[in-house]
Amino acid sequence: MTRIINLGSKAKKVDVLMLRRSKAITYDVPTFTPTKYIPVKISSEEKTKDDAVVIYGAGGHSKVVYDILKLMKVGVVRIFDDNVKEIEGHFVENTSLQKVKSDIIITIGDNKARKRISNSLKGSFATAIHPDSIIDSTSKIGEGTVIMAGAVVNASSKIGKHCIINTLSSVDHDCVIHDYVHISPGANLCGSVEVGEGTHIGAGTTVIQGMKIGKWVVIGAGAVVIKDVSDGDTIVGVPGKKIK
Ligand SMILES: CC(C)(COP(=O)(O)OP(=O)(O)OC[C@H]1O[C@@H](n2cnc3c(N)ncnc32)[C@H](O)[C@@H]1OP(=O)(O)O)[C@@H](O)C(=O)NCCC(=O)NCCS
Repeated sequence: MTRIINLGSKAKKVDVLMLRRSKAITYDVPTFTPTKYIPVKISSEEKTKDDAVVIYGAGGHSKVVYDILKLMKVGVVRIFDDNVKEIEGHFVENTSLQKVKSDIIITIGDNKARKRISNSLKGSFATAIHPDSIIDSTSKIGEGTVIMAGAVVNASSKIGKHCIINTLSSVDHDCVIHDYVHISPGANLCGSVEVGEGTHIGAGTTVIQGMKIGKWVVIGAGAVVIKDVSDGDTIVGVPGKKIK
């Protein structure tokens, strides 16, 4: 695998990884059904609380994000979910309103849920970028976004806030990906594609160059999109056709 390239100066790298500890502020985590508080274990390899982030969500997606944060040498200070579980020795907190300092990353795959939760939080968000992804220095990555292993974001592309650019997917040059989008594993967007807010691009999908895909669209796994797609449509097949 190729390492991150074209990150530019050290200052740029810090910016991309959103390690904005100097600006850490206090914010509220929304109320869950009060249950119990279990202190989180932090291993000695992890950094101090000041360098750590809070994970919000404890499902399968959060495990992958947790691994990325470990590779980035960013510690996870606390994990919240409304379903108490354990991730790699971190107990998940399901508590009433808590004051926490640290950037937060919402690790929930559902695009609508990520939007709802991000709007309910006051504070700053972390961005997790796998070291074995390729992010061109001319691209822009929004806060709260996660970029998985083997993903490629090419020149002059813009990725919005709280997006998921999943394993081995590619976003080619000059694409515009709006907030809360999920590009599933193995999906390929050719150059100059626009994807509207909240849209889910299914696994292994291909979108040909220049297509405009609307908001809150679902593209089925394995589809080939050769026409623009209207807001809210569900498209499947090769070539892609509307089923909803
Ligand atoms: C497109 C999708 C959302 C449709 O789900 P759904 O609304 O529950 O639809 P259904 O399963 O009832 O299928 C409706 C019809 O579309 C067809 N269909 C569904 N998904 C399809 C796909 N990916 N490709 C081709 N046809 C598909 C079904 O065979 C069915 O056809 P029929 O009416 O002739 O029997 C879903 O199948 C899909 O592909 N989701 C993406 C999954 C993914 O990529 N996940 C990544 C997670 S990281």
